[in-house]
Amino acid sequence: MASDRPLVIVTRKLPNVVETRLRELFDARLNIDDNPFSRDELIEAVKTAQVLVPTVTDRIDRTVLSQTGPNLKLIAQFGTGVDNIDLDTARNRSIIVTNTPGVLTEDTADMTMALILAVPRRLTEGAALLKAGDGSWQGWSPTWMLGHRIYGKRLGIVGMGRIGQAVAKRAKAFGLQIHYHNRRRVSAEVEQALEATYWDSLDQMMARMDIISVNCPHTPATYHLLSARRLALMKPSSYIVNTARGEVIDENALARMIDNDELAGAGLDVFEHEPAVNPKLLGSNKVVVLPHMSSATLEGRVDMGEKVIINIKTFLDGHAPPDRVHPAMF
Ligand code: 8YV
Repeated sequence: MASDRPLVIVTRKLPNVVETRLRELFDARLNIDDNPFSRDELIEAVKTAQVLVPTVTDRIDRTVLSQTGPNLKLIAQFGTGVDNIDLDTARNRSIIVTNTPGVLTEDTADMTMALILAVPRRLTEGAALLKAGDGSWQGWSPTWMLGHRIYGKRLGIVGMGRIGQAVAKRAKAFGLQIHYHNRRRVSAEVEQALEATYWDSLDQMMARMDIISVNCPHTPATYHLLSARRLALMKPSSYIVNTARGEVIDENALARMIDNDELAGAGLDVFEHEPAVNPKLLGSNKVVVLPHMSSATLEGRVDMGEKVIINIKTFLDGHAPPDRVHPAMF
């Protein structure tokens, strides 16, 4: 039976509490089995939906957007990054795009800090060794499993937005010296509070840091921002942590350099061709890999769902949704 409520198509399974609320408010078509939409299913969805709720795993490019029906007016992304959506084409077709900023800042910064600690201190290596139960741990020894101190080292943050600043706050408490590169310099108050040093030149910053943390969005301008050439500027003793987007780093170059001892290691939550991970990275004990889970807390996912609902509801009530994204923002 046709419903007179707006058709909202959600591409992935969301927390129950979010799905219940979506059902109460809208004619919500949910993905209870959580099977990612095929391209055809995505095209079918944009043809019929009034609102689409996609995630990072849905590629909403020009081809998909060229198939949108007259009903589709809003794409309410469940996520902060919107690099899976062709924003220019959406704008040209008068489709509004919203995202869920802010609510995953602290969780993502926590996981970034966890990787900043885990890689130099060989946390997962040590943990895996004991669990392997092969008796290779013969008891404590002064020279065994030595990592490197992070206290007093230089952390270079690439992208000093909400998440970059939340990382800086944590890192400062661990005694790291905060450095950053950003399109725009942050305010003097923020710099002062974080005791952060601004680098206009990313090249110069990379050459002088002990740890680099990637916290910028993936856009055409940041694709392979950490190119083979830039990675080669880093000290062989330095580490890279990435909880932003895999595409910001040339993953092959990174894997090759770690393999050749040209870099000391990496902590990666995101990859260039997810869910594929470069086998060299997987096989290296100098690399900690996580399956894109920096924002994966139940609280965070519920907050994201709440933001999606507010964006849809506000829009359908005829107001400007609070988290509208414009191509110029990126
Ligand atoms: C989300 C993220 O899990 O929100 C983002 O941009 O990278 C992740 O933390 C995912 O992207 C949701 O779409």
